[in-house]
Amino acid sequence: MSNTQLPMQDEKSAQAGFSKIYAESNPPWDIGKPQPPFIAVADQVVGPILDSGCGTGGTSLYFAARGEQVIGIDFVEEAIRRARVKADERDLHVEFLVKDAMTLGT
Ligand SMILES: C[S@@+](CC[C@H](N)C(=O)[O-])C[C@H]1O[C@@H](n2cnc3c(N)ncnc32)[C@H](O)[C@@H]1O
Repeated sequence: MSNTQLPMQDEKSAQAGFSKIYAESNPPWDIGKPQPPFIAVADQVVGPILDSGCGTGGTSLYFAARGEQVIGIDFVEEAIRRARVKADERDLHVEFLVKDAMTLGT
């Protein structure tokens, strides 16, 4: 199994798998810009926005720059740390939180 194939048996192993990828490298999905499918529909998106599995925040910050209220969550601390750095660098506000999307509301 390559290091970009994730063990998805349960949330704990999924989180461990994603954490390992963030710790070892720049993840392949972190393309340095918002994900193109979201850009394509951006004009139809009305906030507030919950970006679940926001990673390092590229898409969250794109919508924040458009004036939307955004919360970004990810269960990997390192991803959220990088997202907060980006927000500071761009002087944008997004509430980035370390949270597991599967346990929201519990
Ligand atoms: C393929 S990456 C995409 C990241 C980001 N949306 C992007 O486009 O760059 C999936 C992200 O979802 C996060 N993730 C997966 N399952 C999650 C869960 N249950 N709760 C919170 N984050 C989760 C991972 O840590 C990872 O950052």
